[in-house]
Amino acid sequence: MDYVSTPPKLITKEADVTPTVLAAMADTDNPRLKEIMTVLVEHLHQFILKTRPTEEEFEYALRWIVEIGQRTNEFHNEVVLAADVLGASTLIDLINNDGMQGETMSALLGPFYRGDAPVCANGDCIARSQTPGATLFFSGRVIGTDGAPIAGAMLDVWQASPVGLYENQDETQEDCNLRGKFISEADGRYHFRSVKPAGYPVPTDGPVGVLLRAQNREPMRPAHVHFIVSAPGHKTLITQIFSDTPEALAADVVFGAKQQIVGNFVMHTAPHPDYPDASLPFYTCEYDFKLVRGKSTLPVPPISGKKS
Ligand code: DHB
Ligand code: FE
Repeated sequence: MDYVSTPPKLITKEADVTPTVLAAMADTDNPRLKEIMTVLVEHLHQFILKTRPTEEEFEYALRWIVEIGQRTNEFHNEVVLAADVLGASTLIDLINNDGMQGETMSALLGPFYRGDAPVCANGDCIARSQTPGATLFFSGRVIGTDGAPIAGAMLDVWQASPVGLYENQDETQEDCNLRGKFISEADGRYHFRSVKPAGYPVPTDGPVGVLLRAQNREPMRPAHVHFIVSAPGHKTLITQIFSDTPEALAADVVFGAKQQIVGNFVMHTAPHPDYPDASLPFYTCEYDFKLVRGKSTLPVPPISGKKS
């Protein structure tokens, strides 16, 4: 190349950097990638120019990100946790799931979905190993936004044990404890047995915990049960059904709780004819999941296994 007559310009000052980087990316073929990377670079540079980090601060930030990656493996996902405590996951959830057609409100997936839980029969108990906590009978229907039952819908359920650990974090729990898939019956009904969930701290032994402590934030999530409800011809619903106080719901460290998905958990202190063998007190929760028509997809699981 002949640079003698018109040599290309090199960066000489702060204000040169953003246009030079944008020009370097200008030939991106995929228009969506081009849009996303352009806005990302513009905002990243604006953020850096506004906060003017020192070199030590930049090194610290890069180490924090490296640790997020190093902490992530097949049974723990610190990347998802970081996105969640920053509110990014809830914002993306709300952008993509506004509930405007009467469908059940969604909530973030979180870092603990495995995707490989066993298929169970309706009525089965998902507490596979000795699990503390009051018995919970969870039931309801899967219906369309028109109220018509949806038969053959898949409900993938998971929750933490009442000691506050998901099975994948806890060597004392059996593989896939408190996880199971259920298929809705001809009238849309599903039902299963479990234990009443308890509030639960997100893992704080990694870089996300360092940040939460520096911000004087409590790591707690309100008690919840996770659901992915999917059926052919319907938009998949990723949600959580909550059971906690208004204060705990509002203090959710990952901003996932919504009023529409608070369950009606009823405590029973006397024997009930429908549940003759349940020890007292036990709980029931009935929740109907409403699906809107659309594309049936499943998320890529953030984890795939259990620590052993
Ligand atoms: C997160 C979600 C959960 O459901 C949970 O139990 C812990 C953490 C999260 O969004 O990071
Ligand atoms: Fe959870």
